[in-house]
This record gives sequence, C-alpha cells and structure tokens, in this order.
Amino acid sequence: MELKLEKEPLGKISGDVVVFGVFLDEGVDKALQEPGLELPEAVLKQLTEMAAFEKFKGKSGELLSFYPGDQLPARRFVIAGLGKRDDFANTVRKAGASLARHFGSKEQYRRVCLAIRTNGDASLVQTAVEGWLLGSYSFTLHKTRNEETNPERKPVAELVFVDSAMDDDAFARSSRAGRVIAESTCFARDLINEPACNMTPSRLAQIAASISSEHVQCRIIEEDEAARIGMGSFLGVSRGSHQPPKFIELRYTPAESRYFAAVVGKGITFDSGGLSLKTAQGMETMKYDMSGAAVTLAVVKAIAELEVPVRVLAVIAACENMPGGGALRPGDILTAMNGKTIEVNNTDAEGRLTLADALAWVCKEKPDAVIDIATLTGAVVAALGKIAAGIMSNNEELVAAVTAAGRRGGEKFWQLPLFDEYKESLKSDVADLKNAGSRGEAGSSSAGMFLKEFVDNVPWAHLDVAGTAWTDKEKDELTKGGTAFGVRTICYFLMDKAAKKAE
Ligand code: BES
Ligand code: ZN
Ligand code: ZN
Repeated sequence: MELKLEKEPLGKISGDVVVFGVFLDEGVDKALQEPGLELPEAVLKQLTEMAAFEKFKGKSGELLSFYPGDQLPARRFVIAGLGKRDDFANTVRKAGASLARHFGSKEQYRRVCLAIRTNGDASLVQTAVEGWLLGSYSFTLHKTRNEETNPERKPVAELVFVDSAMDDDAFARSSRAGRVIAESTCFARDLINEPACNMTPSRLAQIAASISSEHVQCRIIEEDEAARIGMGSFLGVSRGSHQPPKFIELRYTPAESRYFAAVVGKGITFDSGGLSLKTAQGMETMKYDMSGAAVTLAVVKAIAELEVPVRVLAVIAACENMPGGGALRPGDILTAMNGKTIEVNNTDAEGRLTLADALAWVCKEKPDAVIDIATLTGAVVAALGKIAAGIMSNNEELVAAVTAAGRRGGEKFWQLPLFDEYKESLKSDVADLKNAGSRGEAGSSSAGMFLKEFVDNVPWAHLDVAGTAWTDKEKDELTKGGTAFGVRTICYFLMDKAAKKAE
C-alpha cells in the first residue's frame, strides 16, 4: 500500500472513496464551512440535509454515504464520525482502524482518500496509519481460504491523506514511522498467534537472527554455554521440555547514539505450568506467554528500521515450561547468575525465574534504563483487566516517561507498588528467596519484588502485560488473538529519548 499526500481542495480529490472526518457534536454543516474545501453548492446542500435527516452526531464509527455521480471526482463520499476532539491522536488511531475495516480490503476500493482534519499536524498521519494497518491485521496463515486466496479481498493500493497545510517532509517521516511501527506490531502478532508447536525457542532464535542487519547483531547462547555462565534459574524452567532453551541477545548500535536502553522480554513459548500444572482452561491460550519476547523483537526491528539514534540491548531467555520427566520439582533450589539461590515453591511462577537471569545479564552493562515486558501474573488481570497493563519500577521518572509514551501510543499503564513489605512473602527457610508469594495477596507486586532482586540499582521498569497481550474481542486497533501490546509504548519511549537528547 502506498501512502500519499494530496494538497488539492476536497472537491477536487478523485478516489474510490473520499472520507471527510467530523468531530462529535461539531455539526456537519459547520465542519463543511471550513475554508478551501471547494465543494459545489449542490453537494453542500445535499450533505447537510442528509446529516440532519440521519441525526448524524460524529460518534466514532458513525458513517454517512453519498454517491456524488458527476458532481465530484470521488466515486463515493463519506462523512465519518471522529469522536471527541480532545485526545485527538487516540481518536484518529481508532478512526483509522474503523475505516480500514470498512474500506481496507474490498476490491472496489483501490484508492482511499482521508480528509481527517489533520490540519498540518503530521503526527496525526502517523497515528492514522498505525490504526489503519493494525485494524487491518488478521492471522490467516493456517486457513486454507485466506486473504491471498479470496478474490473478493484485496488490500487498498493507495491511502491518500488530504491536507493542504501539511509539509511534505514531515508527512514522509510520519507516515513512514506509522507504517514501520504498525508493521512491526503485526510481525509480533504473527509470532504470538503462531501455535507453540511451531513457535519454539529455536524458532524464536531463528527469527531474532533474521532481524540482524548492518547495525543489529544477534547472538544466541546455547544451553551448555548458559550453564557455564551460571544461568541456573533460566535453565531450571526449561528442564521439563524437549525443546532446547535459547538465550537470545540482539544489539542495535546506531552510528550515533544518545541513550542506552535494555529491553527484556518474557519468552515462554508455552506455559503449561510445569509440575504445578495449570488447568485445561488455564493453559488454553498459553502460547501467548512469549508476547514480551515478540514485542522485544518488534521494537528492535522498528527502531533499527527507523534508524532511531538510541542504543538498544534486547534479551530474551526463551524456553518452554513443561512437566516432562526432567522437570523442576516444587522444592528444588536454583542458583541464578548473580549468585542468589531460589527455592521453587511453584513451577508455574516460571516467568520470573527466566527474567531473573536475563535482567542480571543486561544490568551488568549499566544501561540508562531497563524495561522488561512480561505476561507475568494472573493477578494483574484481576487488578486491571484487559484495559491497562501494570507498571512497577524503582524509578519514578521512568514510570512517568513510559506511561506518557503509552498514553500517546494508545496503550494504558497503571502503576502498582513495590513496597518493601511485599518482600516478606518471598522469604524462604532454605534459600535466599522463593519464587512465589502468598496466593491471593498482591501477586503482581510480589512478582515485581522478586525481579527487583536481579536489577541492582539500574533504573528499571517492569511491564506486566498478562491482561493486555491477548484479546478475544476485536476492538479499535486491536484484533483477536495476540495484541503485541507494548510495541508502540516502547518505540515511542525510545523515540522520545532520541528527540530529548537532541535539544
Ligand atoms: N504466564 C502466567 C501468567 C498469566 C496468567 C498470563 C494468565 C496470562 C494470563 C505465569 O507464568 C503464571 O502462571 N503466574 C502465576 C504465578 C503464581 C503461581 C505465583 C499466576 O499468576 O497464577
Ligand atoms: Zn506460569
Ligand atoms: Zn508464564
């Protein structure tokens, strides 16, 4: 799909559909008074009457259609509700997704033109493109009748933004950023949606290697080497599986760098719970327990493609949590890379065991910030549902920066505490700490406290996305299955850091 900018007046735009956005309660007649639209009087009159008759409000998702015949060069003219004007960026992302669902894949719509009141603001093009591409996503790889084989479904060829006030360079930059971030997110969704029989630790390692490029180096640490390094906590989790574990490291080193971030993703390719076995229902969707890993790979891919001037060290301790004969037993004691000993009282609290070694590994390099992203606890689903992810941290400034990036990216975060008292529940009689706290008591915070033992004093934020990484309902820019929640937030965060240091 090509992304283009048109500066002609609305009345002169040709296309299979031209969409004119109207805000909630703005009034179609008033919106159409905007100078420079050059719509013929007769068309203005028809549109105004149509809107009044249909009681058009401008709610997001609301559409009014008009087939102008030879009155306009457009084949179809649509008035689309944009929703509330405040929080416009997120509104535009949702509008982009909803329009993509209407016009994005029908073969008669080759050239789709959007006049969505960007008013010279190129950042809105970025969010609209994100919404369009994310809303168009579907996972059809294993359907014999899929997008490619269905002749009635065809993605649009040209998505045109209509805005006479927009700068061409700004448009090119923003549309590209939107496309790269969205395509990387869809790449992550593909990894998450792929069943665990295919998306093994080895497959993840191969995919990580395929991201390497001039500025991206990939290193895979195999089991024997990981053992020599002392990653006993990570390797313990893998023992009950036939799949070999892979410790994946990606390094993006741009020519110029203004910030150094480490990103750590939880990469459990399937979480059966291990010997502390989950219920059938509890493990039904546990292929998505590598969402953090998928997001981490997508972030490196996007940041490298956009040549953002920040250094990124990305690490995934990938393995499968299975109850095979060699499996970790409740009561076993593991030694992590930083020398701490861990009594495993619950093998289903495996994510933190893998993250412990990954965090200790990246902290040795003293990055400016460490962000880990993990489908870590059922407790965060209980606390925040599927609406927001939990954020826990040892650094308030980092919380503010990540949360702000998330707000602009359309991903919500809510801070949960790391009070010292929560550490009590991780006390072990036989080792330095145990891996699971008391059931039903602040499970997300006690998991966070466990991770904190492995980050020294490096500024660190832990994102618990157990509730937001998967959805059963299509909504706005989210599609069924893996959401790849976090790609936008982390990319926006890193892009902010690059921009700030440039001042
Ligand atoms: N992968 C799960 C967390 C999870 C639960 C993700 C539901 C998505 C949806 C994690 O490994 C886990 O099983 N956590 C346990 C920890 C407990 C045993 C301390 C949990 O949350 O129940
Ligand atoms: Zn688990
Ligand atoms: Zn898990």
